[in-house]
Amino acid sequence: MNLLIIGGTTFVGPALVAEALASGHQATLFNRGLSSPEPLAGVELIKGDRETDLHRLAGRRWDAVIDTCGYIPRLVELSAEALKGTVGHYTFISTLSVYPLNGAANRDESAKLLTLDDHSAEEVTDETYGPLKVLCEAQVQAAFPGCNLIIRPGLIVGPRDPTNRFTYWVTRAARGGPAIAPPADQPLQFVDVRDLAAFTLRRIEQRASGIYNVTGPAARLTFGELLPQVKQALGSDVQWQHASDDFLRENDVGEFMELPLWVSRALAESFMTFNIDKAIGAGLRFRPIAGTIRDTYEWALTLPADAPKPADLPREKELNLLAAISG
Ligand SMILES: NC(=O)c1ccc[n+]([C@@H]2O[C@H](COP(=O)([O-])OP(=O)(O)OC[C@H]3O[C@@H](n4cnc5c(N)ncnc54)[C@H](OP(=O)(O)O)[C@@H]3O)[C@@H](O)[C@H]2O)c1
Repeated sequence: MNLLIIGGTTFVGPALVAEALASGHQATLFNRGLSSPEPLAGVELIKGDRETDLHRLAGRRWDAVIDTCGYIPRLVELSAEALKGTVGHYTFISTLSVYPLNGAANRDESAKLLTLDDHSAEEVTDETYGPLKVLCEAQVQAAFPGCNLIIRPGLIVGPRDPTNRFTYWVTRAARGGPAIAPPADQPLQFVDVRDLAAFTLRRIEQRASGIYNVTGPAARLTFGELLPQVKQALGSDVQWQHASDDFLRENDVGEFMELPLWVSRALAESFMTFNIDKAIGAGLRFRPIAGTIRDTYEWALTLPADAPKPADLPREKELNLLAAISG
């Protein structure tokens, strides 16, 4: 296949490119050339902004497009309308954040979605990110009826993850010693970016249309089950000290980004328990978690010491928490 990827150079994009090339497809990237000024080997780059430069795609034909960087419905409408005559299939990378944070466990693709009163809103915030993605999905569905694929990933992890959310646990294990961890019974869901890419490509090859929740693993996983695997995969002497939700709250620990991936029990039961039966039925497969852990660690070792860490528990705060939990 001849694929167009709108975006393609940060995290999900490079995994899609690698999977596409490994599967014998050709890839053209359309982006501004800001995130990765060096051209990626083996792919064509058309430089441009999706807001103002879509004319640079005119006169070209692709079998399918994958849109990894759609956040604003007006801009997704522009690209979907511009491509609908020349591209056969549109994949939109959406998110599980299209569903309300607090909902029942085991929600599938038919669960209630977030809504936005102001459909002209274009500012992406924690509150508008999910409902804007809902409106973006609708633009793709309207322009590509019967040939649109809506991928709703949960937390995406693995090499090149810019958030340090999962990577924190890998590098923290590698450092060793006593380490503060969320409650052992907190459920967790995530998908390795390469498994997400493989699933997406296989669906596109099948010209599949429809919506898929894409996260993992296949069976319920808790922090208490994940962290020993991290320790073992890296041969570390880390000693995980699981703290309770109450302890973490009383000590002013921030959820999700400060103590990475920690969310209160009620939220975890709602947001880390999505139903992924449809994707598994359609071929979603998961590599062993130990492989994700080791590959993430190998990649993290290549980062400069001052690389940004949007999610991180500062060492000094961790030492205070360790003193409080044992005292
Ligand atoms: N990380 C997670 O855990 C998670 C979870 C659920 C869903 N998601 C979804 O996954 C996607 C994240 O993908 P990613 O950032 O890793 O994708 P990516 O394709 O690797 O990187 C984003 C790309 O978008 C391009 N871009 C940004 N603004 C652009 C513009 N105005 N015109 C043209 N290109 C533009 C960037 O290049 P330039 O800057 O050079 O233009 C870059 O190539 C998002 O849709 C997000 O909602 C992520």
